[in-house]
Amino acid sequence: MTYDFKTLPNRLDQHSEKWRLTENNPELLQLWVADMDFQPFPEMRQAIVDYGQRQIFGYNYASESLFESIMDWEKDQHGYCFDRQALVLVEGVVPALSIAVQAFTAEGDAVMINTPVYPPFARTIRLNHRRLISQPLSVVNDQFTLDFQALEQKIVEEGVKLYIFCNPHNPGGRVWSHQELLELGAICQKHGVILVSDEIHQDLTLFGHEHHSFNTVSPNHKEFSVILSSATKTFNIAGTKNSFAIIENPQLRKAFTKRQLANNQHEIPSLGLITTEVAYRHGKPWLTALKPVLEENILLVQEELSKKTNIKVLKPQGTYLIWLDFSAYELSHQELAEKLLEEAQLHLNDGLTFGKEGEKHFRLNAATPQFVIKEACRRLVEVFGCLIN
Ligand SMILES: Cc1ncc(COP(=O)(O)O)c(C=O)c1O
Repeated sequence: MTYDFKTLPNRLDQHSEKWRLTENNPELLQLWVADMDFQPFPEMRQAIVDYGQRQIFGYNYASESLFESIMDWEKDQHGYCFDRQALVLVEGVVPALSIAVQAFTAEGDAVMINTPVYPPFARTIRLNHRRLISQPLSVVNDQFTLDFQALEQKIVEEGVKLYIFCNPHNPGGRVWSHQELLELGAICQKHGVILVSDEIHQDLTLFGHEHHSFNTVSPNHKEFSVILSSATKTFNIAGTKNSFAIIENPQLRKAFTKRQLANNQHEIPSLGLITTEVAYRHGKPWLTALKPVLEENILLVQEELSKKTNIKVLKPQGTYLIWLDFSAYELSHQELAEKLLEEAQLHLNDGLTFGKEGEKHFRLNAATPQFVIKEACRRLVEVFGCLIN
């Protein structure tokens, strides 16, 4: 089966969040929100068409076959086996973050994240009136790394109760190693910290890197962890809404599901139930075909920008997101943002939304046909290439 990763679908008449600003400015290229400009595989489209042809659109329950498809995927793709009762469906990973914060901490408690990181992490902590503890990532050899000593010190000093960790990491695309996760787990266990591992990007590992689900690294981890994941990011079905938590510790699971029910967040959209199962049962060939497309796009951005501009490219080990560092330019963050949007006509994610470490950084979404990436690079070279000193 061949898939079309070359055509840019017209998303302008679909209320696409990503392409919204292009509705009034056709020149503007959208390389921000983390969804892909690629059609899902035919079985997915057919399943959604079949759903549309039903006569009745009432409430649906999650079938055992759906649970099995998630468990099979986790086992086959990530070597992660767990009991059926550990699996809890949630409408989205972001809602699950709120449930975890509310279930495991009280107002004023310290919750840690590693910045820069996916903006809803900090937002969830702040809006739930917990204390946001940011432990910045360091860049070593052009990759984000964890400073374990500083991290442990902060856990102790601040009395951290909960740690929301992004594995693989957005926006850096780091696929954390077995050893790193082992060290992280040992620190959490030692200090009684509950770790939420957001693994939504788990399937999108690239360039030979291998994802390790936090719980596969040590049998101890399941005692104090909540794993969150979803088929939606991998298979470009984010709008259909469905995700899952794997909570092996029964006490943690009980606290989580109680809070979920208290919030009336226990129901999953019918379409999400369908798309998740179809994704996990039929999506592997599409995913296999997608990865070289993403790799080529990333290499192209890296090559063009490193040769022709002073923009530093953090090559992701996974995800389709590229963290770009513009700090070599003697321009303020605001000036850089304006140049990108107004001169290059490119809409990237503003780095500051990921934390203060994101100053003079922007995130580029490479999951779009290659001609779009080429045009984006051409514009970046045109605007920033001439500023090389
Ligand atoms: C790390 C991370 N978590 C969660 C999400 C979104 O999850 P959901 O759509 O299931 O709420 C994203 C989307 O980009 C993400 O990058």
